[in-house]
Amino acid sequence: MSTVLNFNDEYSDFDPFSMAFRNNPHAYYDDLLQNSPGFMLLEGIPSAYVARHDQVLAVLRDPAKFSSLKPKNLPGMERVDFFNSKPVMNYSDPPEHGRLRKVTQPVFTPRRMQEASTEMARMITEILDGVGQGETIEVVSAITKKLAVELLLTHFLGVEEKDQHIFFNYVKTLSSLDKMRPGDPKPKEFLDAWDEGTAYCREALKRAAQEQSDNAIGLIYQAMQGDVLSDDEVMAMMITLLIGGVSTMASSATSALYHMAANPELAQRIRKDPALAKIQCEEAFRYDPPVTLVMRFAMEDVEIGGKLIRKGMPVYTMIAVANRDPAVFPEPDRFSLDRENMRQLSFGFGIHNCIGNAITRATVPLLVVEVANRYPNLSIDPTRGIDWETSPRSRHIGAMTLRT
Ligand code: HEM
Repeated sequence: MSTVLNFNDEYSDFDPFSMAFRNNPHAYYDDLLQNSPGFMLLEGIPSAYVARHDQVLAVLRDPAKFSSLKPKNLPGMERVDFFNSKPVMNYSDPPEHGRLRKVTQPVFTPRRMQEASTEMARMITEILDGVGQGETIEVVSAITKKLAVELLLTHFLGVEEKDQHIFFNYVKTLSSLDKMRPGDPKPKEFLDAWDEGTAYCREALKRAAQEQSDNAIGLIYQAMQGDVLSDDEVMAMMITLLIGGVSTMASSATSALYHMAANPELAQRIRKDPALAKIQCEEAFRYDPPVTLVMRFAMEDVEIGGKLIRKGMPVYTMIAVANRDPAVFPEPDRFSLDRENMRQLSFGFGIHNCIGNAITRATVPLLVVEVANRYPNLSIDPTRGIDWETSPRSRHIGAMTLRT
């Protein structure tokens, strides 16, 4: 067992938001799994984490005992207040959660994904036609982010290229929240970007009224007319969809390509049997989950793993650690296409399971097969390699240079 953390007292010195953990998370996994659930004082607040796969499932499957509603004024939450304290489905409980989720669910059904698959294949072909064999490319900007933006922003949500900078800018300002201390006012750059985003959304809704579109914005407009959504909820939902999927989809696609470039045998197997691309992607989701933790709040005293999580405690639900739990994934640090158990938790679980999981699972394997076939000599550029980016609840490849 490693000895990164001190668990001698009632409270350990684990801080899931610390840079030490974010920069080198895997060094902590043994300790976290061994001692889960564990307890810590964060900003003076007694808090818990769960890391074992079965314990993470127990928390996420029980919204009555573990709420997603963030308590107001809880120190530390200002750093993850990505939606400007507005009501969003991610941070809501039944019955409000069901009411919000129902509005846009029809856009993301597997049937819709099936219908969109021709369009996805066309986008992938077009992007890869711009990348020849033998080139050196930065994959996130040249391929994976481009695909996520085109598919989600342009195709599913109808945001024209000229307006997309509004949402990129908003995402950029989220890192300013990371520096906030309890009681600090929200950074001006964040509030300005939020205002710009909401102004765009207002105009988009006006257009949806005229066009009677059935894309996500059209559905939100209809819900607004039926008084299903309040004004605040409309803006927050649009921004959730507009920003929630782009970097997550891009980074999981980047990770799937990374493992193929790092291990040419994987690419070879996928070329022979393209059905393996889906497994390559599930394993990439498991191995490098873009969302590393989700938060819940204990609504009553609950026993988990023989320990008591007290009513009111924030519970850090460590998805990325659970994905490496050896009780479920033997040799968890090995990237393998031969796992029997694919129950990775990267898209969450239970009522909040990711609304974008079908679109991600439909698109990324198509990209993987196409890249495997087009670039048989794919490798990581040893001079530039890869850069990881972290935020309080995510960790992903921000840039990766490959030789095609
Ligand atoms: C690899 C890509 C993605 C990953 C890893 C991911 C991860 C997650 C996770 C872990 C949750 C659960 C949050 C919780 O339980 O508190 C979630 C929920 C959600 N995701 Fe994703 N996501 C991805 C792609 C997308 C895409 C493409 C979209 C939108 C188009 C999206 C929109 C959402 C929304 C709206 C929710 C909230 C669902 C609810 O609360 O009912 N995600 N996602």
